[in-house]
Amino acid sequence: MKNHKRTLVTSALPYANGPVHIGHLAGVYVPADIYVRYLRMRGEEVLFVCGSDEHGVPITIKALREGCSPQDVVDKYHQVIKDSFAEFGISFDIYSRTSSDIHRQTASDFFRKLYDEGKFIEKESEHFFDTEAEMFLADRYIVGTCPKCGAEGAYGDQCEKCGSSLSPEELINPHSTVSGSTPIKKVTKHWYLPLNNYEGWLKEWILDGHKEWKTNVYGQCKSWIDSGLQPRAVSRDLNWGVPVPVEGSKGKVLYVWFDAPIGYISNTKELLPDSWEKWWKSEDTKLVHFIGKDNIVFHCIVFPSMLKAHGGYILPENVPANEFLNLEGGKISTSRNWAVWLHEYLRDFPNHQDALRYVLCANAPETKDNDFTWKDFQTRNNSELVAILGNFVNRAVVLCHKYFGGQVPANAKPADIDRETIAQIPAIKAAIEDNIEHYKFREALKEAMNLARLGNKYISDTEPWKVAKEDLDRTASILYNSIQICADIAIACAPFLPFSMEKLAAMLRMEKVCWDEIGKAEILPAGHQLGAAELLFSKIEDDAIDAQMQRLEEIKKANEAAAAAAAAANAPKVDPAKAECTFEDFEKMDIRTATVLKAERVPNTDKLLHLTIDTGLDQREIVSGIAEYYTPEEMVGRQICILANLQPRKIRGIMSQGMILMARQADGKMRFITPAETLANGATIG
Ligand code: MF3
Ligand code: ZN
Repeated sequence: MKNHKRTLVTSALPYANGPVHIGHLAGVYVPADIYVRYLRMRGEEVLFVCGSDEHGVPITIKALREGCSPQDVVDKYHQVIKDSFAEFGISFDIYSRTSSDIHRQTASDFFRKLYDEGKFIEKESEHFFDTEAEMFLADRYIVGTCPKCGAEGAYGDQCEKCGSSLSPEELINPHSTVSGSTPIKKVTKHWYLPLNNYEGWLKEWILDGHKEWKTNVYGQCKSWIDSGLQPRAVSRDLNWGVPVPVEGSKGKVLYVWFDAPIGYISNTKELLPDSWEKWWKSEDTKLVHFIGKDNIVFHCIVFPSMLKAHGGYILPENVPANEFLNLEGGKISTSRNWAVWLHEYLRDFPNHQDALRYVLCANAPETKDNDFTWKDFQTRNNSELVAILGNFVNRAVVLCHKYFGGQVPANAKPADIDRETIAQIPAIKAAIEDNIEHYKFREALKEAMNLARLGNKYISDTEPWKVAKEDLDRTASILYNSIQICADIAIACAPFLPFSMEKLAAMLRMEKVCWDEIGKAEILPAGHQLGAAELLFSKIEDDAIDAQMQRLEEIKKANEAAAAAAAAANAPKVDPAKAECTFEDFEKMDIRTATVLKAERVPNTDKLLHLTIDTGLDQREIVSGIAEYYTPEEMVGRQICILANLQPRKIRGIMSQGMILMARQADGKMRFITPAETLANGATIG
């Protein structure tokens, strides 16, 4: 591993088109925050940069839906997201936004430099254009019938019904969601970054140079590179974004995936106008991007190629992308409201930020998609945080108050079990470090919790409350060691559980919380005064979990009802069932085969044909309302089925004797019924 002096950590800029949910936290922000807090505690120079991603189609779609401007959308959600992150202790050094002036300027300059140096290719191609709204349509703005499953309302990039990814050309009956009109194809010019030119370099840099990347990340990169890279458009026809800084490109903006990652740079600049360059341009800075798996190609292939094309910038040292978190077995979905929103969680579980951080880390989708369940949340809170960590700390501090006036007692009478217990701590510390440094936060947390397990077992095995009855010196030693372990926990768990560990450090009146103190023989000396005992965690009761399950159940029902309504709206209309009839009723009907001998229109009508038919019994006349569906020529010679004994009726002066059997379809169209093979006329049907 290269030596570095400082670490720059970025976490994906969330789209400011909605609030954030547990999936965001588990996949990206909790792991990034643990990493950063750990490095800070080790005294490393570290910078943690994030902000809102405020451009692109996701924002304009939301604006269209909410009937407001894109600026309104991002103003609203930027604040909501920023607040949620702050409440969960995600300790960004800056959380800014890509609509800032400094970002627009930075992204614009970046583009212009590549443009001036001929790093782009220009290409004309045809795109869908809405002639009423006078705008080019992003794929998401075009809806139509899915060519794969036939669902209505499939988007130009994806059918949400069957999950197929689509191109707008494939949609049946495409129309614009902006005006409802049918779009036309129109030629437009865009700039492309020729990723194919970077293929050799990417192979060397990633496939040879970064074999240590997580297998899911390395694998995705390899498959992208192996399947051959194509030039990627870096501009779009859209009225929301950073304008393309080239003459004659009115109505064109930078593609959101071009401008957004530059946001990492602009936000650093905004925070550190005088020293940002050492974070981005100095080889002794280690750059790490925390992202979700859907962002891998952009952070491992596209953005690095942009940086390489630009020159002067460092490249990521690692991109520890996570897989996805599901909720109670279902894919988290904003549109279906299948999510636990952070602001709602805090309303329902006030002051339980660490419980969620704990569960999301313990269950993080590091190597595969994982499931969040409320039951697991409750169990982990109650039987791990409360019963192990909280219980141990509480016993240790309460007993110190009970027997020693809240002072750390002297280690008056050490024993083997003390030495054996304390001796395990350095290995745990090393395991936490190794795991964090390899982005294995679940394992790291498990190891940190092992300190609490160790303490809990120690105090249960030694039973200082019993020993106190005959040997206060021995009690003193047990509590001395227990308090040292509490201090170890306060340090080691701080990156994971910042709120409760701050509380613990305050309870222990620790002046500094420094990583390298973990495992020291004496973190808190004898005579050190402790604060009052306080509970660090509280039990989550069944009714709170039931309420959450109930809420999800209601959402599921609402979704099912919505899906059923949509299906019904799309379903062909079938005529309602008729009342029961008896066999005798049926038997009364004389249904038989016949052949059309002659057919002509009934004068002055649109719908009626006058047919002469051979019924096998006789030749007769029938007037039938099928002229909309069949021409007279089509009818002649056809074998049909008739109801022969229908009471004769005079229609337009013609006595009609019987009725031709027709099938009426969903769209109202009628087709007559013909036997599977030609039969003799007069064959009875029943
Ligand atoms: N907004 C994107 C998403 O939510 C992530 C952008 S990351 C950045 O998937 F690098 F482009 F900023
Ligand atoms: Zn489909």
